[in-house]
Amino acid sequence: MFAAWQSSFRNVTEVPRPVRLAGAVPPSLRGTLHRCGPGVFDEHGSRVRHPFDGDGYVAAYRFADGAVTYQARVVQTAQRAAELRSGRRLSSGAFGTPPALRAPKNAANTNAVAWGGHVLVFHEAGAPHVLSADTLETVGTLPPFRQGVPLRRPPPWMGAACGDAVCAHPKVERHRLVLFSLTYSSKLTDVAFYEFDRSLALASSRTVSFPGFVYAHDFAVTPESYLLLKSPLKLDLSRLAGGVVSTLSTDPRGECALVVVPRDGGAPESVAVPVAFSTHLCAARADEHTVELLHVAYDGPFPFHEMQSAAARGRLMRTTWNARTRAVTQRVESGCRQFEFPCLAGGAVYGLSGASLVRAGSPDAWFCARGAVLGEPVLVGDTHLAVEHFDSLCRESSLLVFDKDSLAQGPVGRVVLPHAAPLTLHGSWVDAVSLLQGCPTLKNAGVHQSE
Ligand SMILES: [Fe+2]
Repeated sequence: MFAAWQSSFRNVTEVPRPVRLAGAVPPSLRGTLHRCGPGVFDEHGSRVRHPFDGDGYVAAYRFADGAVTYQARVVQTAQRAAELRSGRRLSSGAFGTPPALRAPKNAANTNAVAWGGHVLVFHEAGAPHVLSADTLETVGTLPPFRQGVPLRRPPPWMGAACGDAVCAHPKVERHRLVLFSLTYSSKLTDVAFYEFDRSLALASSRTVSFPGFVYAHDFAVTPESYLLLKSPLKLDLSRLAGGVVSTLSTDPRGECALVVVPRDGGAPESVAVPVAFSTHLCAARADEHTVELLHVAYDGPFPFHEMQSAAARGRLMRTTWNARTRAVTQRVESGCRQFEFPCLAGGAVYGLSGASLVRAGSPDAWFCARGAVLGEPVLVGDTHLAVEHFDSLCRESSLLVFDKDSLAQGPVGRVVLPHAAPLTLHGSWVDAVSLLQGCPTLKNAGVHQSE
């Protein structure tokens, strides 16, 4: 399965204008699925050291009347533009793609979310990019974030300005898009939370500082709080030449904690929890007495360089904290050996277990044929799940649509892409085929324009 997944990572063929795909989906589905992943691997005479260092692309699948169109474009970041001009790699890949010890590359390859009439593209090494929702052309980056090294005071040898490491998993809470960024100093890590309204204007922000907070991949938001799971990690900058991901390792003396940060400015609270390392959080609930999270967790040490391989054994966990008794309980809910890419839908959690689409805690599942792999499931239209499918034996990419209440019956819709495409990492669905109506102009949105 790992070989099939790896084999999808060949340079993407861009599709600048939407093309109608062969096949059909349930006609009740109307909206757009945006997907984001690494799309350029071989360039300037060399291949990236890890597929996650590939420059990102965004695909838009637009559903209407049982048909689906497809459009795909590489994100034109300023760093990519500079490399294309010079004909060589200039930035350091997070997973070790040389040159080493240069400005970290914002590969814009991790997640895409429609917001404010645009498509926002995320990568943890920099600022979110803003794309036109209609053309998928790159417009610029989202203020107030800046590209650069996420240090308060970088050492002179880095030769780069300070910037922001923005989480690639934004959350929508009521009418706000919520993000966090990490900025490091010698003793403290600043975690800054930002809330944007639907015109892409910054509505609020607050920064809290923690000692020993190295990294979080995801978070959750409730009406009252931001929730983070602190993992026992340590940072070894002597390994920076191998990429920033190489500097992360499990700290056997480190602490696991649930961190609750009130959105109203109240003091953060931290409570110790047993779990070792969490990747994705898919649901959160909180009242005055209880905080509850559904998340994917791993026993340490986390295999940072073997993500998506057989070495990665995630479990869906429910962590509950009783604020009155201070008791923490954790329960495994996945019911299978491996679970990732959680997707909450109608009270159930769906995900991937190897090359299978599963519903956590249920026997309902759909298994790929040999040589095929799936991408992250996304809830579309409240009733169905859309999942990318790559058949490595015939090099065919398709999008499958499942009735979420009956995975085992197989896909109820299927469309085939005109070219094999790299499997993407994350994405989202919006109940709109065209996003521009009634949306702010780019000028009003204050986007930093690309060069
Ligand atoms: Fe992720």
